[in-house]
Amino acid sequence: MVKLGILYKSLFEDDFKVLLALERLHVKREYVPLGMIEKETGIYEDKLVLILGKLHNLGLVKRESIGDEKMYKLTYTGYDMLALRSLVRANVLEALGDKISVGKESEIYEGLAPGNIRVAVKFLRLGKTSFRKTVRVRDWATETSLSWYKQSMIAAEREYKALRELVPHKALVPVPFGYNRHVVVIEFIDGVELYEKPDLEDPMGVLVNILETLAIAYHKASIVHGDLSEYNILIKRDDEKPYIIDWPQYVYRDDPRALDLLKRDIFYILRFFRKKYRVEISVDEAIKRIIEYTSQ
Ligand SMILES: Nc1ncnc2c1ncn2[C@@H]1O[C@H](COP(=O)(O)OP(=O)(O)OP(=O)(O)O)[C@@H](O)[C@H]1O
Ligand SMILES: [Mg+2]
Repeated sequence: MVKLGILYKSLFEDDFKVLLALERLHVKREYVPLGMIEKETGIYEDKLVLILGKLHNLGLVKRESIGDEKMYKLTYTGYDMLALRSLVRANVLEALGDKISVGKESEIYEGLAPGNIRVAVKFLRLGKTSFRKTVRVRDWATETSLSWYKQSMIAAEREYKALRELVPHKALVPVPFGYNRHVVVIEFIDGVELYEKPDLEDPMGVLVNILETLAIAYHKASIVHGDLSEYNILIKRDDEKPYIIDWPQYVYRDDPRALDLLKRDIFYILRFFRKKYRVEISVDEAIKRIIEYTSQ
């Protein structure tokens, strides 16, 4: 599999013109006939066939023949190229590096923002889901009514907005730099996932910091994470601060499920600290701390 950054660099303006035309035409149809692409782009047929051949070889479009007619469709990677182009043009992203994580619902790359700032670039891939993931709360995107692409676009926007709400209140979360389509660019946290059980000098201090971030989210941004576990916490290498990541499924505090989700989030974290670090706060005590939290 060729790296996305290398693919991106191999594309010319006419290639993007064709990818963009396909995206527009997909609003009305899944597979687009050659003639329509020709009309939309104004690129004459011989040249267009060459461009589509290249895009096909690079895995950016799918091709189907129906009778004599050739039909085309953007792939995931095709949409990735469009999102990257917009992020580069908006000065959110300058370079894309190595893949740092592949999950069922996302792929994360390392990247650079202007000014050589290290960022994490999260490509949402909802709809390629496992059972465990589909039982998450997700009333904003049901599997049946929306395509993977629409779900992923909504998820990227939600992740960006949640982080943007949280950062000004000094919550320990990555700073968001921008989003486009199904891709969100956030501050790179040089850390270790909590589930790897890194050595902590002050586990109780780390747990208290996590609860404080949940309290800030609840009171200042009026949101509950809703998918918290040791997999969505990164412990920063240099100062042991816990950063809470992966926010697209958050719910608002006034949602009828909010309190149950908050309890579940807390329960998972407390259980992990009790089992792995032998530090204990009761669920009731933790809930109380969060509900009664007032910032100093
Ligand atoms: N800001 C970041 N800085 C550094 N690494 C990150 C950052 N965000 C995510 N990662 C890495 O990518 C992994 C997956 O990120 P995230 O939890 O946001 O996605 P996900 O949707 O849960 O993916 P999955 O489908 O694997 O569950 C994290 O566990 C972490 O290793
Ligand atoms: Mg995650």
